[in-house]
Amino acid sequence: MSSLPKKSVLDTMTQKLVESQAWRSLFRHGYPDTPLNQSLVMMGNVFLHLHPVKVSRQAMKITYTWCMGGITFFLFLLLTLTGVFLMFYYVPDTNQAYQNINQLSTVVSFGHLTRNMHRWAAHLMVVSVTLHMIRVFYHGAYKPPREFNWVIGVLLFLMTLFLSFTGYLLPWDQIAIWAITVGTNFAPYTPIVGDPVYKVLVGGSSVTQITLVRFYVGHVILFPLVVALLMAVHFWRIRKDGGAAGPPPPSRRELEARTERAVAGSAQQ
Ligand code: HEM
Repeated sequence: MSSLPKKSVLDTMTQKLVESQAWRSLFRHGYPDTPLNQSLVMMGNVFLHLHPVKVSRQAMKITYTWCMGGITFFLFLLLTLTGVFLMFYYVPDTNQAYQNINQLSTVVSFGHLTRNMHRWAAHLMVVSVTLHMIRVFYHGAYKPPREFNWVIGVLLFLMTLFLSFTGYLLPWDQIAIWAITVGTNFAPYTPIVGDPVYKVLVGGSSVTQITLVRFYVGHVILFPLVVALLMAVHFWRIRKDGGAAGPPPPSRRELEARTERAVAGSAQQ
């Protein structure tokens, strides 16, 4: 007779399930309690594989990143969604644009809410991307190997500002027209490239219908596409650089001090 303890029905059924072909086709690794299985879980899952196999526990803390990069990404998605809704009602024509925006707030169902969500998300994105940049700078996370991603980040920051700037003209009200007139009038003061840049931006010698179309195309197609592309590179680089940097490892002196404190503590007990 065997001295092995008898398996319960539940254990037998669990084992049969885990060894079945259907289960194995879904879960191609064991329980993630070994380094190998933990790596396989990360690599075999479509969502988890966006992260590196190993990430620093400290760098994952919300108090470390403030989640400002994630919040900026979320706001970009929200802006895209609400922006598509607004595109159904807005025509970039100087005779219609102002009325379209007014109608959005008065006659279109959920128009007022969606327009305000778009406006607020745009303001918040500028705030969150700035805070994200400050956080990265403060942590020295722009240093090698992350210097390339810092450059991508600077481009993302500029693109976010361009998106804000181009969106500001679209309601075609007095504040929009004069704000863009003042804003674009800075360009010609730049040496050499100033005048051509002004002409490309405005499409003439003052803010007109041509400017509205240019800003509209930039706002709804050009800049969102460039931002989406840069974000893809940004996220790919974060993954390749081993996730968020996290604080530097403790120095040798700090490690020695910790050991001394631990030894002194155990000697006292
Ligand atoms: C649309 C704008 C941006 C989005 C959606 C974005 C998103 C993210 C996310 C999700 C992370 C992971 C860690 C975290 O959340 O802090 C990150 C990290 C990083 N970002 Fe951004 N980012 C943007 C703009 C910027 C800007 C403007 C800079 C700097 C000029 C920048 C430089 C970096 C760097 C260097 C890292 C790695 C940080 C580390 O290792 O601790 N990003 N970004």
